[in-house]
Amino acid sequence: MLVFSTSDKGGTGRSVTSCNIAHRLAIAGRNVAYVDFDFGSPTAGALFEISAMERGINGGGVHSYLLGQTGTAARVDVGAATDRAELSRISPRSGRLVLLPGDEGGAEFLTSDGGVVRRCAELLSTLEQEFRVVIVDLSAGRSAALEIVLQATALPSLRRRIARWLIFHRWTRQHILAASGLVHGPHGLLRAGEAAGHNADELLGSTRYVRTAVPTTTARTTANRPAQAAWLQEQDAALRRLATANQLGTTTVLGSTPMEPVLQWREQVILDSDVNAHIANPETAVAYADLARRLVDVATWERL
Ligand SMILES: Nc1ncnc2c1ncn2[C@@H]1O[C@H](COP(=O)(O)OP(=O)(O)O)[C@@H](O)[C@H]1O
Ligand SMILES: [Mg+2]
Repeated sequence: MLVFSTSDKGGTGRSVTSCNIAHRLAIAGRNVAYVDFDFGSPTAGALFEISAMERGINGGGVHSYLLGQTGTAARVDVGAATDRAELSRISPRSGRLVLLPGDEGGAEFLTSDGGVVRRCAELLSTLEQEFRVVIVDLSAGRSAALEIVLQATALPSLRRRIARWLIFHRWTRQHILAASGLVHGPHGLLRAGEAAGHNADELLGSTRYVRTAVPTTTARTTANRPAQAAWLQEQDAALRRLATANQLGTTTVLGSTPMEPVLQWREQVILDSDVNAHIANPETAVAYADLARRLVDVATWERL
């Protein structure tokens, strides 16, 4: 299964959430490849705490591969390369988690020319055969990365493979409208996909939204402030109506993640050990596990 993570805006939590989903899939026994296609801002190395790749790999990453500068894209076994001891202690039941890092300093200058699209299709096709789930973290917005994968997945070699599209957005008015625009807008996923040779209905059926860092309306901090609690609940209800009116209603949602203090301070994978140490909230780990489970559950993808 190919999973494309995208968002209209930057800073939505797309990379952090995608890395956490990858981790949860791996500990649930799935072999996972994580491909860093965010050429302008390759953060996966930092998220998996691979110090040599904090800002991507120095040569031979996905970017150089797509440009035809190297014959293969570098692969890194996360368990072996991570500095985080608890992330490397893989249980025998876990699947493999392999990172294909982006290039350090690889600015967003790729265009979707034939060679790039062909190499992209070859890479995804190989990975899809080798891994149960291939997560591709794209750049924000209507990027070259999005255009390249839309064209690649429309090629005969990938057409029949399962592809899922995840749109990440924060739980605010602007983010809801932006996410809707990214899918339904004039140059959005559906129209761009159609132009690349996809069927827009099928594409829409393979698209789900992920609401990130959603504040809780029942937080203990509002216990003594009924007016604040009422206001928050009112806002939440208004956002739900806005989401539904913009085709982001509950049936189109894969799941949501709660506002997590650890992630407000530090971009990282939330491990069970962080929860057991009472540092991360258990709800956050549960949210990532649920996203991972729903992603690979066929029932999630039955036609709406
Ligand atoms: N559930 C969450 N609660 C709080 N902060 C979060 C949450 N998810 C992500 N973040 C934070 O949001 C910021 C942006 O996340 P990132 O994944 O880098 O966004 P993107 O890839 O969309 O640009 C990071 O500082 C990250 O730690
Ligand atoms: Mg990112």
